[in-house]
Amino acid sequence: MARKPIIAGNWKMNNTIAQTKALVADLIPLVKDANCDVVICTPYTDLAAAVEATKGSNIHVGAENVHWAEKGAFTGEISADMLKELGVEYVIVGHSERRTYFGETDQTVNARVKAALSRGLKVILCVGETLAEREAGVTAEVVTRQTKAAFEGIDNDELDNIVIAYEPVWAIGTGKTATAQDANDTIKIIRDCMAELYCPKCAENRVRIQYGGSMNAKNAKELMAMPEIDGGLIGGASLKAEDFAKVVGFDK
Ligand code: PGA
Repeated sequence: MARKPIIAGNWKMNNTIAQTKALVADLIPLVKDANCDVVICTPYTDLAAAVEATKGSNIHVGAENVHWAEKGAFTGEISADMLKELGVEYVIVGHSERRTYFGETDQTVNARVKAALSRGLKVILCVGETLAEREAGVTAEVVTRQTKAAFEGIDNDELDNIVIAYEPVWAIGTGKTATAQDANDTIKIIRDCMAELYCPKCAENRVRIQYGGSMNAKNAKELMAMPEIDGGLIGGASLKAEDFAKVVGFDK
């Protein structure tokens, strides 16, 4: 069974509501014939507008984070129920910017994954090594540790609801892309880890793994041609409709 590719935009802290409406309007006709799943992950404040603007199109909407608690005294945080009620389908969890700047740990990532899944949200789980870790030769250990921790206590049934995004931290927003071969090799390590945690067939047929880190219109085709790479998590190149549409149309 072939894994269906999935291309997701991660807008990060970009776009107002007005800009969201304009970008989605430009995007809809450009991606309507996509052969992959198309997702845009937007700031919380843009979600309602994005859900409204994408109605009837093939574009799915995701948030960029979610809290692990159902509700309560967590000033500034957003729950899975709140996202669900807005019509949001996906949520990014464990992005390296959250891990680096906001104290996200393997344990909080796992708690957020569980909360999202329990409310029927699909998760885009980010893992990836820093430059220092790559240079120290511990990439495999790092992505394996992050993957095992994130999936702690997650049932086999949920595998179709989690996409893994392998994002080497040194490639994010830097213009430095991992070579297609390096990205493929590390994604294979993650898939082998999933085979060990669940089963080889589960990892082969049901686990989609994206590459992320300076993926754009120019390199998407080469990256997507690799056998282990099932999609992309796109930051900078998701902010312009034409650029994102070219990544989505990598097979055209
Ligand atoms: P980039 O970001 O495409 O701008 O490198 C990717 C990401 O952080 O998800």
